[in-house]
Amino acid sequence: MASMDGTVALVTGAASGLGKAVATGLAREGALVVVVGRSTARAEEAVKGIRLLVPAGRLEPLACDLSVQSSIRTAAAEFLSRHDRLDVLVNAAGVFRKERQVTPDGLELTFATNVMAYFLLTNLLLGALKHAAVTGGSAGTADRPAAPARTPRIVNIASKYGNTKLHFDDLQTAKGRYSYLRSTPPTMLARVLLTKEFAERLHGSGVVANAVHPGLVRNTSLLQDVGGPFRWITNAFGAPAEKAADTALWLATSRETAAVSGKLWAKRKELPTPGMGSGSEARRRLWDACSHLAGLP
Ligand SMILES: NC(=O)c1ccc[n+]([C@@H]2O[C@H](COP(=O)([O-])OP(=O)(O)OC[C@H]3O[C@@H](n4cnc5c(N)ncnc54)[C@H](OP(=O)(O)O)[C@@H]3O)[C@@H](O)[C@H]2O)c1
Repeated sequence: MASMDGTVALVTGAASGLGKAVATGLAREGALVVVVGRSTARAEEAVKGIRLLVPAGRLEPLACDLSVQSSIRTAAAEFLSRHDRLDVLVNAAGVFRKERQVTPDGLELTFATNVMAYFLLTNLLLGALKHAAVTGGSAGTADRPAAPARTPRIVNIASKYGNTKLHFDDLQTAKGRYSYLRSTPPTMLARVLLTKEFAERLHGSGVVANAVHPGLVRNTSLLQDVGGPFRWITNAFGAPAEKAADTALWLATSRETAAVSGKLWAKRKELPTPGMGSGSEARRRLWDACSHLAGLP
């Protein structure tokens, strides 16, 4: 029996790059993997691609444009109509955009996809994660054995953020001239802050939340839009997605990581979270800002 048999996982950004590698690894371990793509066609294409690598994988497509809040709500409702439990949630979808774009909700696209989607989707699926914590392993059926008791986990793909700060008066890079170097690095810090805040709010619930710095990941579609030397360096020196996915998979599946929460990891080691990541003020302010923008209480 594979270690994740009987469990349900959901992976965003599973159509390519790191998300696809994580979804593939989870399917290989025996989890039923809900594969999120921005459209039905993209999600189905992703399922086909993963099935080529894991022919016996249990895979379900789920369409969701993560830059649009109504689409996130519809996808979460669709997931909950199919499953009452969620054992592993991996937020991996993300963008890196050369030009400033605005979503139908009026949000800057990078912030909407890289931050708001993590915040909103995770909040909408918390009930299913907590349910998995209460019920432990699945009961099993005649043809599927019961799952062993395990800790439900949230794994957020993020990044080391160096000296980056969040500018709470301009979270959506609306002031001054837009550049991807101004818009995107703060979203990596924001992912770490949200992970810590989720971990604290989930303390005692049985659900853990951790963030991952995957390092440079080569030949993904992330930097297609910006191109230039940044993309060249990433493709020249980055790791293949399958290798870069190791720490996320370890956090999602290993017994060793069942009790750790609220931390940033790279290569299976904890990383420091300096600056704004060290205290509680920035993460509480970000949580409040996201709640307001998502219309959550
Ligand atoms: N590559 C790196 O060096 C690196 C370093 C640090 C962190 N990261 C993070 O790792 C994650 C994965 O990146 P990657 O390098 O594997 O890039 P990638 O291949 O471009 O993967 C990103 C995925 O997100 C999906 N996505 C983007 N916007 C979406 C939307 N509105 N709705 C639904 N799905 C959407 C993309 O779908 P489509 O293909 O349909 O657009 C794609 O499958 C990202 O969150 C990124 O910030 C990457």
